[in-house]
Amino acid sequence: MRPSSLVVVANRLPVDDSVAPDGACEWRRSPGGLVSALHPLLRHKPAAWVGWAGGIGDAPALADIDGVRMRAVALSAEDVRDHYEGFANATLWPLFHDSVEQPSYHRRWWEGYQRVNRRFAEAAAEVAEPGAVVWVQDYHLQLVPGMLRELRPDVRIGFFLHVPFPPPELFMQLPRRAELLTGMLGADLIGFQRAQAAHNFAQLAAKLLDLPATDQRIVVGDRVVRVGAFPVSIDMAEMEALARRPDVVERARRWRGDLGDPQRVILSVDRMDYTKGIEQRLKAYSELLASGQVKVRDTVMVQVAVRSRERVGQYQILRERVEREVGRINGEFGRVGEPAIHYLNHPFDRAELAALYRVADIMAVTPLRDGMNLVAKEYVAARVDGDGVLVLSEFAGTAAEFTRAFLVNPHDLEGLKQTLTQALRATPADATDRMRAMRDHLRTHDIRHWAHLYLTALDDTGSLAARLTTG
Ligand code: ADP
Ligand code: F6P
Repeated sequence: MRPSSLVVVANRLPVDDSVAPDGACEWRRSPGGLVSALHPLLRHKPAAWVGWAGGIGDAPALADIDGVRMRAVALSAEDVRDHYEGFANATLWPLFHDSVEQPSYHRRWWEGYQRVNRRFAEAAAEVAEPGAVVWVQDYHLQLVPGMLRELRPDVRIGFFLHVPFPPPELFMQLPRRAELLTGMLGADLIGFQRAQAAHNFAQLAAKLLDLPATDQRIVVGDRVVRVGAFPVSIDMAEMEALARRPDVVERARRWRGDLGDPQRVILSVDRMDYTKGIEQRLKAYSELLASGQVKVRDTVMVQVAVRSRERVGQYQILRERVEREVGRINGEFGRVGEPAIHYLNHPFDRAELAALYRVADIMAVTPLRDGMNLVAKEYVAARVDGDGVLVLSEFAGTAAEFTRAFLVNPHDLEGLKQTLTQALRATPADATDRMRAMRDHLRTHDIRHWAHLYLTALDDTGSLAARLTTG
């Protein structure tokens, strides 16, 4: 593979090997914030993407996609078990999300995490041209910056964490906490979603590694590692264009009819993940139905919960519980031809998502904790007519930007019910006013703004940022 001047390293490639039997593939967006953020940015840019194609065994040879080189990393069944399902998604994921589920600690998983991180670092070292910028993404690969620096001291290394970075008292639980921090500190710039996360990280670097640290700079030997908040975003123009497409408008109209032309449609779109607050939301909705504050004939709820990380025990349990609860609610409150909740657990393409967002009078995004939450931003982008109401958890990174949403604490069941009721009763003038403020914010803080801020901070010549964020 020819070397590249920009290399993105992420656990997942934006394609999986099932779509590329003959090497010919198209961008197939996997559900998840990381791919949604990076995909529109890299298209037609001179970059390479190092990642896992989702299968087990040999890495498939993938053709370039829209000019971006794909370098798949091979993972064995043990690697997937110990790294992806184990240390990444059963240790770090719950720990970094306020331990809303109990993190598990296993020494074998840590070995797998190190092994797989080394393989990603070697692959990145192989495809980076001399002096390249290598941009490492997310919690699966926190050791890669340090490993890569040893292999390739000539490259400039960025690291961006898409998920929250926890407060010290939680992070301190992690058995291999110092090694994890040291791995991240191999980067020249460490980006977080929120300033609080950067603060948590700096505090830990001082406490655990005894390094001189402020929320902006950490001194590691003769290097200065910069730290900061760079809230990730979406391609607003892409979502707006989709939402305006005649076939999308027509599909939204048809779907509304299929839903029985109710007065109000409430929508939620999540990965099936315990951080997303799906069970709490269902409980609140069920109580609103039971009390008669919401009536099935007037209001319909659509819950999309795309299957995710299905081999991890906590995810299997969640799916069973959610599906049982949806069945119970429909059994109790549905009528013939009128279910109280329409539940869908499969992937949608972008145009279908845009149509769903257009159908939704109210979008309920109520995670218990979320690094950012791009679904909320996609909804706002898709409301090209300037209407629609967003109910948003205070514990999503997005809440720091969308202060005009109906903000809610999803742990507070009564508060959740009240906020949903307020959203259902919002006057058109209030809704439009709030939506206008959120759309104005998003327009100036879209994905190119994010990339520009981050890459200018990483590459002080500014040339990389200019190349990536124009056109
Ligand atoms: P996370 O990164 O935790 O998955 P985000 O809300 O930041 O959460 O990002 C989720 C992304 O996945 C969004 O871009 C959303 O459009 C996409 N997505 C969610 N559900 C589906 C689905 N059923 N089909 C396709 N894409 C989905
Ligand atoms: O940041 C959240 C995240 O872990 C992303 O890295 C990823 O895009 C998304 O969730 C989906 O997760 P997975 O890759 O495990 O399907």
